Amino acid sequence: MAIGVFDSGVGGLTIHHRLVETFPDADFVYLADQANAPYGGKPGEEIVDLTRDGCSRLFDEGCSLVVLACNTAASVALRRLQQTWLPGHRRALGRPINVLGIVVPTIEAATGMPWAHEAEPRGDKVEKLDVLGVFATPATARSRVYEIEIDKRRQDVAVFTEPCPELARMIETGAPRADLAGVIASHVQALTRRIGRAPDRAVLGCTHYEIVADLFQAALAPGTPLIRQPEATATALKDYLLRRPEFDVGASGARKFLTTGEPGAQNGLVEAFWGAPLRFEAA
Ligand code: DGL
Repeated sequence: MAIGVFDSGVGGLTIHHRLVETFPDADFVYLADQANAPYGGKPGEEIVDLTRDGCSRLFDEGCSLVVLACNTAASVALRRLQQTWLPGHRRALGRPINVLGIVVPTIEAATGMPWAHEAEPRGDKVEKLDVLGVFATPATARSRVYEIEIDKRRQDVAVFTEPCPELARMIETGAPRADLAGVIASHVQALTRRIGRAPDRAVLGCTHYEIVADLFQAALAPGTPLIRQPEATATALKDYLLRRPEFDVGASGARKFLTTGEPGAQNGLVEAFWGAPLRFEAA
């Protein structure tokens, strides 16, 4: 058995990297749906179908758990799949399987509250003091998941999401860092204008953006804390596995990388982030 990690492309490697450091003995299968990337501009139904196909492929590879290392899939498809598809698929396979996301751990890290916490409704008078900027794909921004779920838990945090329509595709295709820096600076400026001041903290709400986290850090006001999704996801998975020992995640440290796109090496930007050459097999 193994842990599956799924993304539309290379962004999920940022989560995978941290998970491998946290669980060095576990077996991992990474699946990049590069034939269909990017997901961020697609309609919701298509994102649901593609995410289900990706999870199904990872369960066929022997995974017991699949981590959706993709904000777009997690915010648009996860709840639907958990409610409508997963119970039947679990019965069909006859073994414990589950799909987990990265939005819940990120919100727990951003609010400092466990997911089960609900804020006392305090009406309209709450003064929102802490301004959180979220950079995300258009589909994640449209879902308003960060605004809605953070407001339920912390009414003193104001969330503003900036959709970045081209950024994941540029990172996926290895665009030059100078071009990425320009696009990132323009999104940071647009968000700052919309808020009326710089955000106090920021979430890189697309796993691709972690590959260029330093460019976000440089464009934001000096010292702006970034809420790190890889760290938050690894911490949440550790807790989950302690509570749910029935999930077998393997123990031989095997690593497999699959793509629905072109097998072979990844672009320089990705390999620089990863710190070594990476070879993907055909899914
Ligand atoms: N890396 C993904 C995310 O976290 C998806 C990017 C895309 O495919 O548009 O949203």
